[in-house]
Amino acid sequence: MAKHQTEEIDGRPRTVVELEPGERVALCRCFKSAKFPFCDGSHKQCQGVGPVIVQAPGEKAQ
Ligand code: FES
Repeated sequence: MAKHQTEEIDGRPRTVVELEPGERVALCRCFKSAKFPFCDGSHKQCQGVGPVIVQAPGEKAQ
């Protein structure tokens, strides 16, 4: 399961998402998600923006 951590660097937040091999997630680009950094569908309130889909390389564990 994806893990994430947000830290502040030079006064700006930086979120790092760690995925397991083969794991696929939708990352929020609209900043409306209650589950940020993951998309929860809230982007439907915005126009012209949606998540970015990211998949880690490798095979998913069975
Ligand atoms: S909720 Fe932000 S992109 Fe989906």
